[in-house]
Amino acid sequence: MSVKHIGFIMDGNGRWAQAHGLSRAEGYAYGLMALRKVAKRCEERGVEAVSVYAFSTENIERPSEEINAIFEVVKKFNLTYDGKFKICYMGDFSTLPDKLADSIESVEERTADNEGMTLNIAFNYGGRADILHAAKIAYDHGEFVEDTFEKHLGSSRLPDLDMIVRTGGEMRLSNFMLYEAAYAELFFLEKLWPDMQESDVDELLDAFEKRTRKFGK
Ligand code: FPP
Repeated sequence: MSVKHIGFIMDGNGRWAQAHGLSRAEGYAYGLMALRKVAKRCEERGVEAVSVYAFSTENIERPSEEINAIFEVVKKFNLTYDGKFKICYMGDFSTLPDKLADSIESVEERTADNEGMTLNIAFNYGGRADILHAAKIAYDHGEFVEDTFEKHLGSSRLPDLDMIVRTGGEMRLSNFMLYEAAYAELFFLEKLWPDMQESDVDELLDAFEKRTRKFGK
């Protein structure tokens, strides 16, 4: 039973920064380093797609300094990424600063023909909003069956979601990939996101192997 698609809720960057006497902005920069390690190991283990929750629609309520810090980390990543993953985004980009929205478009275009794993970044994303958006399109097209509905979700070009991993000790989905989560195996780690290592990916994939998936049958 191979894992094709993993979702990560990268929680605990702020707490990690505080524990290390660093700013929250630095916490996100270290969070990105952890993401690079995790994604690389996932690809080595044959995973086809990794989705990460980088900014939720609710995160916009946070202090502007913190929002700017996340935006800067993400923009820099977009403008400098030269690896082999196919980078794609899901979420609402219409309200983002122009330069950030442009950087998203640019990295998606630059990596569109890459043959490596897909790294799908949920940004200014909310699971309910994504479902509602798909429902509106499906309604307009008069096509309310599962297959056609799913093609309007942000994750439509990705394989089914096999597992969701949340770091940072909380045990909830916080509006992340709610539709896709239907039969995903859930894993919750106490570890804070910037502490994630390649070996954690190996342990998670091993733990997944031990689960029995029944898909309701
Ligand atoms: C939740 O942790 C995480 C976020 C709000 C954003 C995480 C974003 C990154 C790690 C940057 C990723 C970069 C790219 C390019 C995808 P938190 O800070 O709310 O943690 P806390 O609960 O400890 O405060």
